[in-house]
Amino acid sequence: MQAKEFLMIPGPTPVPDPVLAAICEHPMAHRSKEFSQLLVEVIKDLKTIAECDTDAFVFTASGTAAMEAAIANTISPGDKVLSLISGVFGARFAKIAEAYGASVERLESKLGEPISIDALKKKLSESKDIKVVTVTHNETSTGVLNDLQAIAQVIHEYGALCVVDAVTSYAACPLSFSKWKIDIMVTGSQKALMLPPGLSFVFVSEKAWQFHAKSKSPKFYFDFARYRKSLTEDTTPFTPNVSFVAGLKTALDMIKKEGFPMIYARHENLQKTLRAGVLGMGLKLFVKDQYASPTITSIVPPEAISVNTIRQSLKEKYQIRVADGQEELKSKIFRIGHMGYIFERDILMTLACLEAVLKDAGYHCPSGIGVGSALSSI
Ligand SMILES: Cc1ncc(COP(=O)(O)O)c(C=O)c1O
Repeated sequence: MQAKEFLMIPGPTPVPDPVLAAICEHPMAHRSKEFSQLLVEVIKDLKTIAECDTDAFVFTASGTAAMEAAIANTISPGDKVLSLISGVFGARFAKIAEAYGASVERLESKLGEPISIDALKKKLSESKDIKVVTVTHNETSTGVLNDLQAIAQVIHEYGALCVVDAVTSYAACPLSFSKWKIDIMVTGSQKALMLPPGLSFVFVSEKAWQFHAKSKSPKFYFDFARYRKSLTEDTTPFTPNVSFVAGLKTALDMIKKEGFPMIYARHENLQKTLRAGVLGMGLKLFVKDQYASPTITSIVPPEAISVNTIRQSLKEKYQIRVADGQEELKSKIFRIGHMGYIFERDILMTLACLEAVLKDAGYHCPSGIGVGSALSSI
């Protein structure tokens, strides 16, 4: 018999049994009083996590659809959009804006580094007519956490719309949609919210509605106005994935029970423990401590051992899945996800198995040094 597969990738993440059980119940009628009540409750809780005082909507679609909706609902063809790019997902936002006819400027950081606040200030002071700025809070492809509060502040002072991808930071680290003056924020179900892929969420400020009123981009299924109108009647414009909304309610109840400060501290500890173990084994981390992601850690393999060997051996010998680098970083780094339903035990187990597969591939380090270094960092 094969051992249970373990997802240590940056999403989809493990789904807790009570969430799976809720999803597996017979689907509710989406126009029922029961479903309306469920929808109202989950939206309230989603807004609490985001610290959002305005609107939030649930889409039956993945995170990229919510990114596209953020663009479709705010820009008109020809509008100038600035995309802050620290990896694959920042670049995706730029491509979406281009697909909607925007004139896109790019501000890029070096891979493995965050967006420079000074460079952002300079860019905005030089280009007076930028309407929308897209930001990736946590860049999943590199494992960098951008300083969203500072970025949003600069964008707000400049007067542009701040559109944020919080797909791999939401519910894993503190963020404050309304206080930080973010205008649109998107996230997805398969990350720290502990659900399978399939739902995404958008948060919308009053200022974003002003942009919506002027936007000439085509929109139908993802038109925010339809979702706002339906929510006045506690419902959704189209048939939502009712089973996942039921699962989301269970996940949100688990999140509330653990408590936000505890959840954020847990993710921070997972990151610290993993980093200490990796360094203890003599491996290199791709991202410096000061902007390391709380949810994804990128690791440079030892010179003589390929990323492919590490990933294959972890999968075949221990049924643990870790991720490759993406695009330019493919085969150069491997990424361990630690968001959502992940605990210290999972990190220690991954470190022990990583050490074993490295040794099988000829790497030398003292036995147990990874787990030992991780434990002594706790
Ligand atoms: C930061 C970030 N943004 C956007 C996405 C895209 O989300 P989806 O794959 O759900 O469309 C991902 C997926 O991993 C992501 O990590």
